[in-house]
Amino acid sequence: MSAPSAPLTDAPLDPASAPSIRVPPPGPHSRERLARLAAVAYPGLSSEIAPFVISRKRGWAVEDVDGNVYLDLISASASVPLGAGREDLIDPVIEALRRYGNEDSHSLASELMAPLAEQLLAITPDSLTRVDIALNGTEAVEIALKVMRRATGRPLVLAFMGAYHGESTTTATLGAERFDIASGLRHLSPGFVHVPYPHPYRSPFRPRPGGTGDATVDYLRDHVLFHAIDPRDVAGVIIEPIAGSGGVLVPPDGFWPALTELCREHGWLLCADEVKTGFGRSGTMFAVEQWGVQPDLMCLGKAMGGGVMPIGAVLGSERAMGGFDDVPTGSTWAWLPAACAAALATLEVFRREPVLENVRALDVRARETLGRLPERYESVGDVRIKGGFMAVEFVRDRETKERAPELQEAVAGECLRRGLLADSSTTSYNLQPSLVMPVEILDRATAIVDEAIAAATA
Ligand SMILES: Cc1ncc(COP(=O)(O)O)c(C=O)c1O
Repeated sequence: MSAPSAPLTDAPLDPASAPSIRVPPPGPHSRERLARLAAVAYPGLSSEIAPFVISRKRGWAVEDVDGNVYLDLISASASVPLGAGREDLIDPVIEALRRYGNEDSHSLASELMAPLAEQLLAITPDSLTRVDIALNGTEAVEIALKVMRRATGRPLVLAFMGAYHGESTTTATLGAERFDIASGLRHLSPGFVHVPYPHPYRSPFRPRPGGTGDATVDYLRDHVLFHAIDPRDVAGVIIEPIAGSGGVLVPPDGFWPALTELCREHGWLLCADEVKTGFGRSGTMFAVEQWGVQPDLMCLGKAMGGGVMPIGAVLGSERAMGGFDDVPTGSTWAWLPAACAAALATLEVFRREPVLENVRALDVRARETLGRLPERYESVGDVRIKGGFMAVEFVRDRETKERAPELQEAVAGECLRRGLLADSSTTSYNLQPSLVMPVEILDRATAIVDEAIAAATA
């Protein structure tokens, strides 16, 4: 078999039918296909793959080759923002593929590039005036790092423990979500200084009287910059404005003015990695808007391609990106014309439909449902919700906050058996609905999480 097998039924996949489990996953068809893949795949790939094989997707419904339909709360790692299978996103891509095929946009520009760059600058903070093209989020972060160091002539970059920036050698070492993402690599990509993310539940710091008003920035000033690092060696700071994969960490409001002032004082560039937060997931188009932050650089990816094409971008201020042309960036498929068409169509949907309003409605409802879990279960240490980002963190003990990864795995297993897909690959159980998912469908998902916790803790 080389072509995909036909779905088990001719009926179109109805997102309202999710979830519906016919055979406990993995069913026999999935088992057979997964075994075939495992025989040839890199074992590190096989160990991460879910225990079923997809047959088709529509909206937030994912059907497997055994006819099980899952409710999708992963949204392809938040890269499918508006539901799967939308003709208004797919048609412009097909048309661009027919018309242009691929072109290396570093050497031959399509007429889609300028409008896309203009539209990005029009909806992002005023500080940003330049655009560079990238294939995806990883490449956008790689470019931002090169540009920061070139613009300032300084080697060091400050980053945060708990943040994720990708898995290439450079971005894995810039990130510090879990130590194993950068195992064996840290020495290959030096120059990153990590401090704890301003974690609302696990920060080791308290603000001190007479300090900056923010505990993490106090720590940076009083300790890192006093004992270890000359601020004149620092090019800038890269931060996810909300740490998404790391468990929906929202910094306290006082963090942003304190950090911005630190950057201003030392001439550091502030780079917002909005690869996951960008394009609506936090309830605003970009997360930095919520604090009025004017970054020097912004990395984009994931949802930018509307879930139909890979695309990324780095936006920069004149200081960060306008003054040199000697840093080679990007790769062959960056901003292929069809990906530009996907991004333009995605922006059009955001203009036409009340996507952000829906994200805010999902936020409100999730607080009423998931938000109550800590009252009902001793083992739920914390629930964090911001727009379409939702995280449930399990602990062995509320007092010590000792993590309970085995319970998280058990809950994820119970959810999967009930047809709910969410992300258990990280330090919390993360739910990432489609940004256009109706609130009643989210209710189905949160009811399953509740049942699954009850089952796993019984
Ligand atoms: C904040 C952030 N930055 C960068 C990346 C890397 O993006 P990609 O894997 O799409 O290249 C990710 C991916 O999860 C991310 O969440």
